Amino acid sequence: MENPAITDHEINPLIAQRWSPRAFDSKLVEPEKLAQLFEAARWSASCFNDQPWVFIVATKDDTVNYQKMLDCLIPFNASWAQLAPVLGLVVAQKNFKHNGKPNAWGEYDAGQAAATLALQATALGLVTHQMGGFDAEKAIATFNIPETAKPVAAIALGYTGETSNLPSDLQERETAPRARQPLSSFVFTGEWGSPSAFL
Ligand SMILES: Cc1cc2nc3c(=O)[nH]c(=O)nc-3n(C[C@H](O)[C@H](O)[C@H](O)COP(=O)(O)O)c2cc1C
Repeated sequence: MENPAITDHEINPLIAQRWSPRAFDSKLVEPEKLAQLFEAARWSASCFNDQPWVFIVATKDDTVNYQKMLDCLIPFNASWAQLAPVLGLVVAQKNFKHNGKPNAWGEYDAGQAAATLALQATALGLVTHQMGGFDAEKAIATFNIPETAKPVAAIALGYTGETSNLPSDLQERETAPRARQPLSSFVFTGEWGSPSAFL
């Protein structure tokens, strides 16, 4: 299934096509495609070109590490993400590499890398679903994440599957139209709350 954004202005189709489904096919993702996803993330912009992101990845054929990752998700997310052939964690390193000082933009940069990965996934016919619903403390302990790094999100990825495989409440959410706030609510000029004239 696809669920492209109905946009108010024309945008690149890749951006409109990216979405976050919960129905995944069991088909494994080809290793070359996985490498391409992280290559895309690698070329994200970052403050001081610090590249503070780290991805911890588990594929379903690696049953031990996949289960460890699945166990870090909150039960709601685990209920549907267990269908995904790949699960991952996005981790942000807290300190700059060049001077060891706190990097206030680490999570911002890790998010950009994840967004870039999501678009590359779309280009490759894959889908991604990012999740805040995971147990960070458990992830830190499970994957031996150092004190100098913070897990910020989980990601499920793979090929889309049949919506009918989802429980009925999730089927409804899967097929609902995608919604966004209007541009005038977040693009301002002059002062906060004053929509820009070009909108
Ligand atoms: C940081 C982040 C955390 C999210 N957490 C969850 C989550 O825990 N569970 C879930 O089902 N979806 C989660 N989502 C998916 C969002 O609900 C989804 O991106 C949003 O509804 C917009 O839909 P779209 O991605 O299809 O455009 C998360 C997305 C992001 C970026």
